[in-house]
Amino acid sequence: MRKIIIAIDGYSACGKSTTAREVARELGYRYIDSGAMYRAVTLYFLDKHVALTNPKEVERALQDIKISFVVNSKGISQTFLNGRNVEKEIRKMKISENVSPVSAIRAVRVAMVEQQRRMGKDRGVVMDGRDIGTVVFPGAELKIFLTADMLVRAFRRQKELLEKGDLVDIDTIVANLKQRDSIDSNREESPLRKADDAEGIDTTHITIDEQVDEVIRLAVARMILQPGKQV
Ligand code: CDP
Repeated sequence: MRKIIIAIDGYSACGKSTTAREVARELGYRYIDSGAMYRAVTLYFLDKHVALTNPKEVERALQDIKISFVVNSKGISQTFLNGRNVEKEIRKMKISENVSPVSAIRAVRVAMVEQQRRMGKDRGVVMDGRDIGTVVFPGAELKIFLTADMLVRAFRRQKELLEKGDLVDIDTIVANLKQRDSIDSNREESPLRKADDAEGIDTTHITIDEQVDEVIRLAVARMILQPGKQV
């Protein structure tokens, strides 16, 4: 079967990463977490006190940033920033609170999109994010757009954070999700929106296994039926 690109977009904490990771594992595809790249840039900017309003500083900082993914012995993809494993750090609330303004900067998006396209050039990838089906790979053979009720999303995120030892109250999480939804959807540069040809899946009342099965079913149909599209 020919290799395709699967783009999974949607709001925070709708199950994008979990679904994308599992779909990639089942298909033997590469999983790329584009959000982790924006989170890594945010970590670097915070560490180096980069002024977001100073385009020269931003450009210079972007030239010094190298992001890569390495699969560990448990088969889980880890994010590296300039050779350092930052997987744990980038999931902290501090990063979540700062990532959307960083991701709204045009120069940041140009740099990340270029890398993402390179990573997907041989196809056989599942990439999740906000603009994968609309901007990064508008020709992706399968586009998924995930949604879920706010409270369900917040509880899922709280559980994830708790598993990593981070206890955050539900109101703080709801406020962060709402703020990011708003910035991500209303920014000028590649705002979060469902591509016209994306399949919408509401994950409020379904399990991860059901989500994964649905995406695999759609993917296999695309692998067999559609002639190759160019990205
Ligand atoms: O894990 P969660 O779903 O909360 O977010 P994420 O996928 O790690 O992405 C973190 C942030 O990065 C988002 O809120 C967006 O501001 C930004 N992002 C983006 O702008 N474009 C992408 N393709 C992926 C993430």
